[in-house]
Amino acid sequence: MRLSGQLVPFTSLLFLYCSLTVSALKTGDWKTCSQSAFCRRGRALAGRAKEAGANWKSPYAIEPTSVVVAADEAAFSAAVKSSIYPDITFKLDLQVLDDGVVRVRMDEVDGLRQRYNEASNWALNSEPSVSKQIEWTVGKGDVRAVYGAKKDISVVVNFSPLKITLLRGGKEEIVLNGEGLLHLEHFRNKAEPPPAPTEVPEEGLDGEEEAQQVMEVNSASSWFEGEPDGYWEESFLSWTDKKPKGPESLSLDINFPRHGHVYGIPQHATGLSLPTTTGEDSFFDEPYRLFNADVFEYLASSPMSLYGSIPLMYAHSASSTVGVFHVVGSESWIDVAHPKDGSTNTHWVSESGILDTFLLPGPTPEDVFAQYARLTGTPVLPAHWALGYHQCRWNYVSSDDVRSVQQRFDEEDFPVDVFWLDIEYSEEHKYFIWDKKNFPDPVDMTQDVEKIARKMVVIIDPHLKRTQDYPVYKEASELGILVKPSSGEGEYEGWCWSGSSSWVDFFNPGSWDWWKKLFKTTPQENGFSWIDSTESVGIWNDMNEPSVFNGPEISMPRDNVHYGGWEHRDVHNINGMLFSNQTWQALLARSNPPKRPFVLTRSFFAGSQRFGAMWTGDNMGTWEHMAVGIKMVLANNLGGMSFSGSDVGGFFGNPEPEMLVRWYEVGAFGPFFRAHAHIDTKRREPYLLDEPYKSIIRDVLRLRYKLLPMWYTAFRETSVTGIPILRPQFVMFPKDEAGFAIDDQYYIGSSGLLVKPVTEKGATEATVYLGEKQAYYDYFTSHIHRGNQKNITVKAELHQIPLFIRGGSIIPTRERPRRSSPLMKMDPFTLRVALDDQRKARGELYLDDGETFAHEQGNFVWREFKAEASKKGKGITLSSLDLAAARPSDAVDGKALSEYRGTNDFAASVSPVKVERIVVLGLGGKPTSVSTDSGAPLEWDYYDGVAAVGKKEGVASILTIKNPGVSVSSDWNIVIE
Ligand code: NOJ
Repeated sequence: MRLSGQLVPFTSLLFLYCSLTVSALKTGDWKTCSQSAFCRRGRALAGRAKEAGANWKSPYAIEPTSVVVAADEAAFSAAVKSSIYPDITFKLDLQVLDDGVVRVRMDEVDGLRQRYNEASNWALNSEPSVSKQIEWTVGKGDVRAVYGAKKDISVVVNFSPLKITLLRGGKEEIVLNGEGLLHLEHFRNKAEPPPAPTEVPEEGLDGEEEAQQVMEVNSASSWFEGEPDGYWEESFLSWTDKKPKGPESLSLDINFPRHGHVYGIPQHATGLSLPTTTGEDSFFDEPYRLFNADVFEYLASSPMSLYGSIPLMYAHSASSTVGVFHVVGSESWIDVAHPKDGSTNTHWVSESGILDTFLLPGPTPEDVFAQYARLTGTPVLPAHWALGYHQCRWNYVSSDDVRSVQQRFDEEDFPVDVFWLDIEYSEEHKYFIWDKKNFPDPVDMTQDVEKIARKMVVIIDPHLKRTQDYPVYKEASELGILVKPSSGEGEYEGWCWSGSSSWVDFFNPGSWDWWKKLFKTTPQENGFSWIDSTESVGIWNDMNEPSVFNGPEISMPRDNVHYGGWEHRDVHNINGMLFSNQTWQALLARSNPPKRPFVLTRSFFAGSQRFGAMWTGDNMGTWEHMAVGIKMVLANNLGGMSFSGSDVGGFFGNPEPEMLVRWYEVGAFGPFFRAHAHIDTKRREPYLLDEPYKSIIRDVLRLRYKLLPMWYTAFRETSVTGIPILRPQFVMFPKDEAGFAIDDQYYIGSSGLLVKPVTEKGATEATVYLGEKQAYYDYFTSHIHRGNQKNITVKAELHQIPLFIRGGSIIPTRERPRRSSPLMKMDPFTLRVALDDQRKARGELYLDDGETFAHEQGNFVWREFKAEASKKGKGITLSSLDLAAARPSDAVDGKALSEYRGTNDFAASVSPVKVERIVVLGLGGKPTSVSTDSGAPLEWDYYDGVAAVGKKEGVASILTIKNPGVSVSSDWNIVIE
């Protein structure tokens, strides 16, 4: 095999991968923009535009006579020509969707070849619904439509040069091609000459004519300089990309004239508010790259690409939030600049594909999230157990190892829901096939784990060992569903964990049913199935960028061929999503009735949220990585991937106890909570630590479990609304400029919990920004803090997590320690009522069976808890009401609750579950009575502290109502006078 031009045995490669634990990241394995021909061309174009200044003019223009408004006015289309290549015609299409989103598409007409036009087929949840209410007005030099409930949104398409602008209230919000960087390199024959040389202005023209000609000449000459760069072939290290189709890149500038912050385009290890990459004093000097790659030991601050790509960007200011979803599956680079305060210019360059861009008009953060979720789907509601703690390492080495780790968790009273097996469970890395020497009894082992209502997750990678005694490879080969090499014939062969391997082409529909068959746990007539497994096992899909150890940039050659004849370059960033999608479908089909699948993926694309969870890959055990992991998980949340997390402890390295404790404190407040470690690291299961570290981690795990009702309610909310689970400051307080760049603290769902995990060595204090006047209660001490748009400083010793309840919130918890989360099903609840300065509060609780799809038939409990002034006016009434009945439609698709009945089977099954304690914070005066609304007195005690009203700070007054006797799933009132 070849690596950097030399023959290297596979074992050395494995060693190389593993030994990188101690060496520095080899950034040279991945391209910079200047090493990628199309990025170089795109950036050079931007450079020439900048140099030409006001003389720069986009050569793209609409042919006015070609404008067609569809009969039902739903869409308009027009022919576009570029003055540089007058023989080439493009078609521009614009649609306004029902929710005001604008879809812009442009493709070459009757080109030599078809540009890749299927990215949206994979990313979109369904065909978007086009509005029939739009009236296009065709003018002399533009087409426009004015729409929206207040008729305040307009989209204007200028003919020459072509420019597309989305406005609100007459002000520009999003501008496409305002800088004139739009360019679709058309397909051409290799022999086609470069454009004609530019002419020098003629003598004797009058001033105006000359100026006009100078402008045209400048623009034409500026477009091309020298020989075509990397059109037909391109080399990187030892690899050469034969580009049989020639140049086909896509360049587009997208500007946000009124927005000083942009977020999104995960995944990168950087701040949430994206730092600049170009312009004076830019923070990075490389553009953000979207090219799914196995960048192990990645840098903690870099625009380099990582494992997943979501070409979605939000732009935000105090006046509005808007978004752009640029649906491209090929490698893309994005430059970000702030030409002046309060505005952002971006430049997107992609290797191939049609232009297919959605403009999301907002105007609030919730609106853009819903607009994006309507396009690509909401995150799927996971099984409840998946929100518990996951214990992983590379590797638990035998069935007995798994059993003894489980036993140690129980002996030491650490809750845990899931044990994971990495690649060493398999014989020679032939996934599905157990290494029977070490795992002689996989089903018994799994059932031993399942006995305590726990689960196992097992890894299945996409590379198939090329050997005839591996039925999975043999069947795939016979079916002809493997990715093909550049010749378009035979099977592509590359190297990964299993040595010489091939990859299933999940773009080929012929692979789908076959993949489902593999996961069946009973024998199948038509070949291999995983009878050594159970119907509850979850699946971990790794290495699906795909990672190819001896391939360019540790991935597949771009000229490999997929189903439909598309080159790998066209679909590279989508590839990983198809793998996790098909695994998800396979687990869905595994049992009847189906259970909610659990699939973790490393590689992802827009829409991956429909198929499960992701994690941030091979991070390092450093404080920097711990800190940036939070920002990355926030960015992934904004990109729709709410179910995300980072390896707790750091994948590489041996974290010291303090760091490990802090990492658990971070992980416990992330949606996906898994500890994982590289094969070369020392064992670091939490029970191995000395005191006090061990007990602190036990408390952290228990805190996670206590808060599971809050987490599950938050997951359910995002599964119907698309609003991320983790909400940074700008989402909560979109008008508070001071919060726009804050990315080290966040709110969880709509719960009102605010957390600032500590990621600094030796910290004893933390500063937390409170973006409003409201009382914030320390979760543990009930101390009232009032930040009022300022930082507060709080204690943050190793055992202390800065965690606050926003005044006005009610948090449901389950406080009894259990070994795993399903064992909590019938446990009673505690309600923490944190009054606001109006002495009000509200909160929600969502419950269902946590594992089936019965909730889609209305089998769930969804309650609203409220605290408000009692009828007599002086006291407070606490109440519980059926939110599902009160809010018959709450989903982005409006359907989620249609089947709901208050007396559903699930609700009946939990009717004995009681509220065992209600803690009311901030009452500010001892009550004279606490009773049910029928007047039955309840038991309570009271600590006299600070009230929610007024400006005081200090420990809040605490009223504890003991065993109020009310059910968590029925209506009730409790009156405090
Ligand atoms: C790479 C993954 O990122 C890591 O989590 C895993 O342990 C190794 N592959 C081995 O499967």
